[in-house]
Amino acid sequence: MNSLVRRSAQQLNLWRTYCVKHNAPEAASPGRNAGKPNYEEFIGRHQRQAQCSIVVQVSSEKSYAELYNYCSCFGSILGAHHYCVRQDEALHYILLEYATPGEAAAAIGAGVTNGELSGVPVRSPFLWFRAAGGGRRSPKLVPNPAPALLALDGTRLVDQGHLLGLLRGAADIEEQVLQLHEHTRLNELGVRMRFLAALQVQQAIAGMFPAAQAQPFGSSVNGFGRMGCDLDLILRFDNDMGAKSPLEEAVPSRLVYHTKENLSNGRSQTQRHMECFGDMLHLFLPGVCHVRRILQARVPIIKYHHEHLDLEVDLSMSNLTGFYMSELLYMFGEMDPRVRPLTFTIRRWAQTCGLTNPSPGRWISNFSLTCLVMFFLQQLRLPILPTIGALTKAAESGDSRVTEDGISCTFTRNVDRLGFRSRNQSSLSELLLQFFEFYSQFDFHNRAISLNEGKPLSKPDHSAMYIVNPLEQLLNVSKNVSLEECERLRIEVRNAAWVLETEVENASVPEADGQELSWGLLNLFKHPEKAVIRPNMFFKPRMVEVSDLFEQKEAGATPSSTAPTPAVTYKNASVRQQVQSIKAATRSELKQLRGSGSAVPPNSPKNRRSSR
Ligand code: GTP
Ligand code: MG
Repeated sequence: MNSLVRRSAQQLNLWRTYCVKHNAPEAASPGRNAGKPNYEEFIGRHQRQAQCSIVVQVSSEKSYAELYNYCSCFGSILGAHHYCVRQDEALHYILLEYATPGEAAAAIGAGVTNGELSGVPVRSPFLWFRAAGGGRRSPKLVPNPAPALLALDGTRLVDQGHLLGLLRGAADIEEQVLQLHEHTRLNELGVRMRFLAALQVQQAIAGMFPAAQAQPFGSSVNGFGRMGCDLDLILRFDNDMGAKSPLEEAVPSRLVYHTKENLSNGRSQTQRHMECFGDMLHLFLPGVCHVRRILQARVPIIKYHHEHLDLEVDLSMSNLTGFYMSELLYMFGEMDPRVRPLTFTIRRWAQTCGLTNPSPGRWISNFSLTCLVMFFLQQLRLPILPTIGALTKAAESGDSRVTEDGISCTFTRNVDRLGFRSRNQSSLSELLLQFFEFYSQFDFHNRAISLNEGKPLSKPDHSAMYIVNPLEQLLNVSKNVSLEECERLRIEVRNAAWVLETEVENASVPEADGQELSWGLLNLFKHPEKAVIRPNMFFKPRMVEVSDLFEQKEAGATPSSTAPTPAVTYKNASVRQQVQSIKAATRSELKQLRGSGSAVPPNSPKNRRSSR
């Protein structure tokens, strides 16, 4: 820990450099967003970009010059981005951005239907650039030299080998965290493509619902998304997201639309609409495939894949709180340049040690994990983030937002009003270690996590992990997390604290045996076998073996499993103590489980991740 502190000044400089590079003026004054777009401005800018854009499939990036020349007839092209969708072969696309929505509409309007297919003649921003002379005479074009592509193969994920090389070659853990964030976060093209997917849905129903809005939310827009992340989309038939204009509020119109009355209750009506809408997407929208309806979930969704954007989409029609939650996370990410790189690293760590999983289940979700990081940053002696309660208190009348179910999502959208300014100067590697240490000690048994208060509260029920839902405070965001998964998290944070502390202390000592140098985050991510405590010490397929294992090991006898387990030596007395207390807690939980007759059968799904 001391060596971390010694290096903090140097590392602080690194993140300052990072802020300058990322155009983040708050490096000098964390907590202020002066001059930066707020969430609604950020969303608005990308929505307009989408309205100005078309996506054209081409045979390869070599078609760009010809495409540029052809499409320049419809307006002034501001930029072009190339990307590939990799199936059996790579399919090439170019996203063109025009200066105005009218120009993009002109390009779309000039398209023709593919006569070779018997499909429905739908118009959308997704087009195909066929070879010259196909069908009708090409107009004579004045040669118009194309500026360079802004991206070539712009959605390709960073090669793992390359990323490892970058992490190996970094100067210190601080730089590793920044490199990881820089090379894995969702890039500008990824964001553009997600807004185009949203626009396509919105335009598809614009005739009947001219005020309809399809808004991306979640990690695609809150700044915590990685390349390839899913798109969460919310569709509202009426314009009820964001601020109301003062005119709308003050002078209600006397002309009222005739409307069909809902005959069933709200939820089944939403399910019915979604079913119908799912059919519409499936039958008519170009690129939309593998449509699945998940209508019984708490928030009913339609899932689909977009083949021209290579994107998984989750579309919902209710749950505006999720949308506003994304705004809160966006604001937290903007308030301090350490927030996002730190969260990325923790999400990556959780993924590599199997704590998170792309499918929902009894394990912690990325969203809950992100809440743990935000809470950690709020409760520091010198907090890096303000509480949500403080944001709510600082709200003005223009910040009022209420969902259709009457849930208040009112909080200030102007962080400057808070007067919050963090004096915390910790480096990213210090914060990372402190995060692991904090949750190593956290009393998940009795305490709930509240981002509204920024401090732990008494747990209102017996859920294994309790994170108060910031916008619906009677709900628990991590209700799904099982006792086993919560224990797993506690074990893994202890391991991580141990590994990271050792890494920092040994930072300048290369591995002796001639292997490729692996250090810092690489060891945190890549070597679960180095862990002092392994979850499979506790979660064996047959739970009865677990306590046997402890008892035999403690008595110095050979464990009953076939492979002998190497003896564990503890460098650090507090880790040894923690190991002992986990063992004791697990023993008593096992006893309780046995007592209540709820021991899990050997092959139940609960145990399927235990044999890693
Ligand atoms: P990844 O999809 O894993 O990259 O992360 P994500 O942040 O997009 O999470 P997810 O797709 O599960 O959820 C999308 C968004 O919905 C989150 O970012 C939150 O804004 C919101 N959300 C998810 N779960 C809850 C919840 O329990 N309560 C509230 N208020 N919002 C939620
Ligand atoms: Mg998501």
